[in-house]
Amino acid sequence: MLTTRPRGTADILPGQIENWQYIEGMAAQVCREYGYREIRTPIFEHTELFVRGVGDTTDIVEKEMYTFQDRGERSITLRPEGTASVVRAYLENKLYAGPQPVKVYYIGPMFRYDRPQAGRYRQFHQFGVEVFGAQQPTVDAEVMALAMDFYARLGLTNLELHINSLGCPTCRTTVRDKLQQYFQPMLGELCPNCQSRYDRNPLRILDCKSSRCTELALDAPTTADCLCSDCQAHFEQVQLYMQDLGIPYVLDKQLVRGLDYYTHTAFEIMAPGIGAQSSVGGGGRYNGLIEACGGPSTPGIGFALGLERILLALEKSGKLPQIQARPLVYLIAAGDRAVRSSFSLLARLRAAGIAADMDYQGRSLKAQMKYAGKLGVRYAVITGEDELQRGSVMLRDMNAGEQREIPVGEVINTLGNR
Ligand code: HAM
Repeated sequence: MLTTRPRGTADILPGQIENWQYIEGMAAQVCREYGYREIRTPIFEHTELFVRGVGDTTDIVEKEMYTFQDRGERSITLRPEGTASVVRAYLENKLYAGPQPVKVYYIGPMFRYDRPQAGRYRQFHQFGVEVFGAQQPTVDAEVMALAMDFYARLGLTNLELHINSLGCPTCRTTVRDKLQQYFQPMLGELCPNCQSRYDRNPLRILDCKSSRCTELALDAPTTADCLCSDCQAHFEQVQLYMQDLGIPYVLDKQLVRGLDYYTHTAFEIMAPGIGAQSSVGGGGRYNGLIEACGGPSTPGIGFALGLERILLALEKSGKLPQIQARPLVYLIAAGDRAVRSSFSLLARLRAAGIAADMDYQGRSLKAQMKYAGKLGVRYAVITGEDELQRGSVMLRDMNAGEQREIPVGEVINTLGNR
């Protein structure tokens, strides 16, 4: 146990972390250009926030939350997603009283007790954005465009954007009635979970993973068939803007999403070829969530993208850049006096902003050279007794395999210029 991590978690090691930093850096850059600012919320919240926010008939709340009592006997949950926490922060910090809309983004770990497999983990990471206080269809289009722009900049251009409209509470009442009528004759055939969802939230049946329920739901009425005229108009406008931006999408009437807070536009982005867990991101509008959490009636919209799945898609399509964090310079020293001189040169190089390292194991000159080769450094700076006498070092270009002697006082200038 002491040397095994919990199932569904991962260590991100040096050599892998560079890829994470690359995609996180890209997320921050795209967000800056679109006017989204970073927000950081706690990793755990009061359980009630997710039960109310995500919805008590969802898989997440029914089966997947990491919930525990803390020592003060409060029920605490490791966040299974980011939206509810950001809504809570928006309300608690009265961000609604400032200029609207509020546009934020976040990157961080989320926790769901699900069955681990390729692309599905118990601790995973999301990059998400949320916009509060704007209900224009331009915002729906901007949020989807931001997601697609981010993927495209990473080199993922073969993704499919699926969009649907889940309507407003009025459309929901219509679809709820129609779904209950549709499922009534087959109620006994639904899984026990869906039988209980039939009364509480029949829309959830459309999101059930059981093959029998999926089969029975094939001809079920969809939200898109039950939209009121306002919701229909909003959805048409969103599509118009998407067409104007030249972003292809698939109209997917079966799309319901796994969280209860959605209204109007809902979307999901699929990556072909990364296996069963092909959804690399999803989101949508949630115009009722802020009010349901006790705030003023405020529209909201956002998305979250799964970083592990994005990395998988990048790997599968050969789009991962070869990033290796390695020092530019390795100092090689033979003898105690040379070590002393190299050690202070090392400090001066670093102070000048040049990434440098040296041997701390008392290895032989040959072993140090070999290690410098393994590290893949660009230059070796070699100091032996002779160089020390002459106040110089041997500067070796590891790629060219050439070396020349230069005064020790010129090392920083010479390397800095390169
Ligand atoms: P979600 O669809 O539950 O939405 O998750 C978004 C993305 O997170 C998924 O498309 C997937 O890439 C990734 N993801 C989810 N679960 C796992 C898992 N167990 N392992 C690996 N990756 C996973 C939300 O979370 C909403 N909060 C999105 C949102 C923001 N809607 C509006 N604003």
